[in-house]
Amino acid sequence: MYSTLLTDLNEGILTITINRPDKLNAINKTVMKELGEAVDEVYANALIQAAILTGSGAKAFVAGADISEFLGLSAAEGTVLAKTGQDIFLKIENSPKPIVAAVNGFALGGGCELAMACHFRLCSENAKFGQPEVNLGLIPGYGGTQRLTQLVGKGKAMEMMMTGALMDAAEALQWGLVNHVLPSDQLISKTREILQQIQSKAPIAITKVIECVNVAVLSDSAYTNGKSGYEKEQQAFGECFGTEDMKEGAQAFLEKRKPVFRGK
Ligand code: COA
Repeated sequence: MYSTLLTDLNEGILTITINRPDKLNAINKTVMKELGEAVDEVYANALIQAAILTGSGAKAFVAGADISEFLGLSAAEGTVLAKTGQDIFLKIENSPKPIVAAVNGFALGGGCELAMACHFRLCSENAKFGQPEVNLGLIPGYGGTQRLTQLVGKGKAMEMMMTGALMDAAEALQWGLVNHVLPSDQLISKTREILQQIQSKAPIAITKVIECVNVAVLSDSAYTNGKSGYEKEQQAFGECFGTEDMKEGAQAFLEKRKPVFRGK
């Protein structure tokens, strides 16, 4: 049904696995489109009561947006790319049914942003989180500047986004980015166990929890007409695409060399 996702519905829980292991499950246009469709399915299909988002293979949840699609994008196209990603990730966050991330390795850039759009996160002991976009002359564009700040607080979010440094599973637990750390082979079973607990509760009450918690954390952004933080991020992300440094950063990654940034 999907070309980049595997889906499996078992006892009311839909497991959505991003399946590009040779590219560490990087989110290209097709993955993004199909993720949107899979989330629509979660909303619409009465047989689905909850969903798990995870990545294929032992190494990565999602290593980011697909950098090979960045080259040649204009500032305006960068803004559209951010808005498309933000809209789909917001749909995850606003899902009336729980969507939980089971982070099974690298969750970098768009991967960290995807995990943060989920209602909560569990991860394996080998997981690594980060927003390394600055290495590419970029910033997070799928809501990361907003959600990382909400989850770990302003100071830590600033440090992570400015240095691009990665956080291991123990630190992610310490900073509240994940709720549980598990050995890899127990990650999905523990996630299912928590979702089964949720499935035993009143579904309308669960939806109301999601709505109310989202209003609490997003009261100055996506739930108001202002949409200030997310719109600012779209614009700033787009502006990075107008810089020479961004082209150099993406090119250098693809050529497996260090970028030389010139501030232009
Ligand atoms: N976009 C496109 N391709 C990606 C990718 C991304 N975000 N992340 C990894 N890949 C590809 C690599 O290009 C490589 O492809 P190849 O085998 O055709 O050359 C493959 O996935 C494996 O990655 P590789 O870098 O060889 O693995 P590694 O174990 O040496 O390093 C990472 C793992 C995660 C540290 C490294 O892949 C990385 O830094 N990825 C980019 C992270 C990032 O900047 N994300 C934010 C993007 S906005």
